[in-house]
Amino acid sequence: MAIEQTFVIIKPEAVERKLIGEILARFERKGLEIKRLAVTNITKEVAEEHYAHHRDKSFFPHLIDAMTGGPVVLAILEGDEAITQVRNLVGATDPAKAAPGTIRGDFGLRLPYNMIHAADSPGAAREEILRFFRN
Ligand code: CMP
Repeated sequence: MAIEQTFVIIKPEAVERKLIGEILARFERKGLEIKRLAVTNITKEVAEEHYAHHRDKSFFPHLIDAMTGGPVVLAILEGDEAITQVRNLVGATDPAKAAPGTIRGDFGLRLPYNMIHAADSPGAAREEILRFFRN
C-alpha cells in the first residue's frame, strides 16, 4: 500500500446542482483525506491547458464551455492507492456507461456532463496539483 495524493475537479454542473457535499462525502466515507479544497472559476486558458490532449476532438469547444460555465471545486485527496480508489468511486468517463453506485453512474446522463474529473496517474496528479494549486 502506498500513500498517494490525487486531484479532482467537481465540475460546474455538479456545483450548480448542489452536489458538492454528496460527492465529497463519498470520498470521506471511503477513508480518503481532503488535504486542500477550493471553490473557484477556471479560466479558458487553464481549461485549454488542462485538456490539451483533447484539443483535436470535436467535443473540445463544448468541453471548454462546460468547464468554464460556472464555479468548480478543486480538491487534493490523500490515502492508500488514492488514484485508483478515487477513479473507482468516480466510475467510467461516459455517465451512460458508468456503473450505478459510482459518482458518474449516479448523477449524470450524458457527456461532457460527467460531474467530476479525476487524475488518471501519479504523473497526471502531480502535474494537475501544480497547475491548479500554484501557491
Ligand atoms: P474528464 O475526466 O474531465 O476528461 C475529459 C473530459 O472530456 C471528460 O471527462 C468528459 O467531460 C469529456 N468527454 C470525453 N469524451 C467525450 C465525448 N465523446 N463527448 C463529449 N465530451 C467528452
